Amino acid sequence: MPEPLRILANRAEVRRAVRRLGTELTEAYPNGVVLIAVLKGSLIFLADLCREIRVPVEVDFLAISTYEPDTGRVRIVKDLDRDISGRAVVLVEDIVDTGLTLGFLQAELTRREPASLAVCTLADKVARRILPTPIAFRGFEVPDVFVIGYGLDFAGRYRNLDLIAGGDLDVLTADPDAYVSHFYRGTARA
Ligand code: PRP
Repeated sequence: MPEPLRILANRAEVRRAVRRLGTELTEAYPNGVVLIAVLKGSLIFLADLCREIRVPVEVDFLAISTYEPDTGRVRIVKDLDRDISGRAVVLVEDIVDTGLTLGFLQAELTRREPASLAVCTLADKVARRILPTPIAFRGFEVPDVFVIGYGLDFAGRYRNLDLIAGGDLDVLTADPDAYVSHFYRGTARA
């Protein structure tokens, strides 16, 4: 196995964090909530999170494209299907890193006049923050390493892992499949 590879949250820890967040959201939104997931990474988190919420939930999706990494220059390539004005809205992210994507999305969604707008992220890479952003619902903090699993990818791989791991970016850049044989029974080249 290439080094270093660290398990940051195993399956049970991820499940526990998602359950806790579901309880927090249930208590915060007794009249229901609209969850907006940012594709693609948030998909798996959203699917598990919404089933841990015990009040009515509606879901919608945004897809964005980043012009340049770490600049906050983002374009919406798939917009919401619904009007969120007057609704209690929670933006669901798999990870907040620099916070620039979130900053853009919050400004954009605020213009649509929701009754409230909060952020729920599973992973928070605080050490990388450029734009400080209040995060009302947070799963756990992750260190400043490249994170894969549970929705988070490298070159499209590893999203379907049920844990979160820190990989070596140099190793992954040299070979995006570097961790495939460790995590999966087959190999990507099979
Ligand atoms: C990730 C994550 C956030 C963004 C956070 O998406 O889902 O949207 O990066 O980064 P920031 O805080 O530095 O702005 P990514 O670009 O990996 O796309 P994906 O979800 O489609 O994999």
